[in-house]
Amino acid sequence: MGMTIAVDGPAAAGKGTISRALALHFGFGHLDTGLLYRATAARVLGGDDPEVAARDLGPADLERRDLREAAVAAKASEVAAIPAVRASLLQFQRDFARRGSGAVLDGRDIGTVICPDAEVKLFVIAAPEIRARRRFDELVAGGETTDYETVLADVRARDARDMGRADAPMRPANDAVEIDTSDLSIDEAVARAVGIVENART
Ligand code: DC
Repeated sequence: MGMTIAVDGPAAAGKGTISRALALHFGFGHLDTGLLYRATAARVLGGDDPEVAARDLGPADLERRDLREAAVAAKASEVAAIPAVRASLLQFQRDFARRGSGAVLDGRDIGTVICPDAEVKLFVIAAPEIRARRRFDELVAGGETTDYETVLADVRARDARDMGRADAPMRPANDAVEIDTSDLSIDEAVARAVGIVENART
């Protein structure tokens, strides 16, 4: 049976990049659980009820091209605070985590709620100003018109909402290893994560 790697942390700390690299390195599957909340949010922005949207999500919802937009991200953080939405998305994530070959899941509550028994738990952080700069660059590269101060305010608002909600708030599991990517290159951050997983395997 393969292992499960839980990667949690705030927006734009680098958990997606680290998770994709870990999956590639070890030949594991990767699930970006934020996409489930973004896809739910995109349907809600289109007029659906949040609980119905989460329950009826299908593959096409996850392939929408608007899921990375700032408005969808902000709505995702709102719908993620609704317990019925989280409950609807839970089993899919748990099933993915126990795929035979091994799995990397990234999100906010993977190590605490979705996979409390994950063999490796990482909590990836970076200073809000650095995360806002990275997200700003991404949004501009994707064709959105915005400014750095707006993105920084969004990052702070999303952090506060994701940490402050009652149901499955973002926080490190007691046995999570923290990686602060503020002063690390992508290669350095990935090397650190690979090293932590390799240690856990031996
Ligand atoms: O990782 P992301 O930025 O794509 O996530 C979008 C929102 O979804 C985030 O603000 C909080 C929510 N989310 C969550 O509550 N739990 C997860 N496991 C993943 C994301």
